[in-house]
Amino acid sequence: MASQELQIPKHVAFIMDGNGRWAKKRFMPRTYGHRKGVKALKRTIRALDELGVEYATFYAFSTENWKRPADEVTELMKIFDEQLDGLVQYENENIRLRFIGDRDGLPQTLRDKMKHYEELSENRTGLTVIIAINYGGHDELCRAAKKMLLSAKDGFISESDITPELYKSFLDTGDMPNVDLMIRTGGEIRISNFLLWQIAYAELYFCDTLWPDFGKSELIKAVTEYSRRDRRFGRIK
Ligand code: FPP
Repeated sequence: MASQELQIPKHVAFIMDGNGRWAKKRFMPRTYGHRKGVKALKRTIRALDELGVEYATFYAFSTENWKRPADEVTELMKIFDEQLDGLVQYENENIRLRFIGDRDGLPQTLRDKMKHYEELSENRTGLTVIIAINYGGHDELCRAAKKMLLSAKDGFISESDITPELYKSFLDTGDMPNVDLMIRTGGEIRISNFLLWQIAYAELYFCDTLWPDFGKSELIKAVTEYSRRDRRFGRIK
């Protein structure tokens, strides 16, 4: 398919799986794989920007990942804290950074950095990169329900106002479009509690490539496959 025929999805979501196996194959600790995963994340952000994608969400740490060994969790938090500084070129790029997930329970220095980069980039108009940290789809839906309940108690909404559109506005991604294409690397065929509401009509793409090996050519393969899909959103043609 010629590149001009590519349909560019507006919002692409990534489950970045396979860091641990990538490291194991090289007789290295799992955290080495996560560090290589950051390089793949940066490459992918560049490639998404070049393709003209508007929103990209990356699953960096799930609400279930706390069950991993404490040293891996500590190292992951350290990687997030260190690597946020160089994730995008803050001086000369038009990339906006956002975070989703429950910030309670994250180290304070990391939370401060997340807030700092969100504020620094909030008026940018290019690609929006959304990093999911301490994120779970069930948790997000529960937090949204709690916010709605508080809003009802304060008299802002009532039962009859509750529609899919209103519910969506209470999600972490309330002001973002739903996902068009979800990509999972690492060979597993599952969603793992990621963006459950937002993927209602997403095209799903699974590949065996381990995340540290992911980059522009893999992304183009996924977008090429997406371009061939017939999206009907419940309609018939
Ligand atoms: C899943 O692979 C990967 C993770 C739980 C961590 C992903 C995090 C990064 C790529 C770093 C992101 C960095 C920033 C700054 C946001 P796995 O460990 O489950 O791999 P396995 O299935 O091979 O064990």
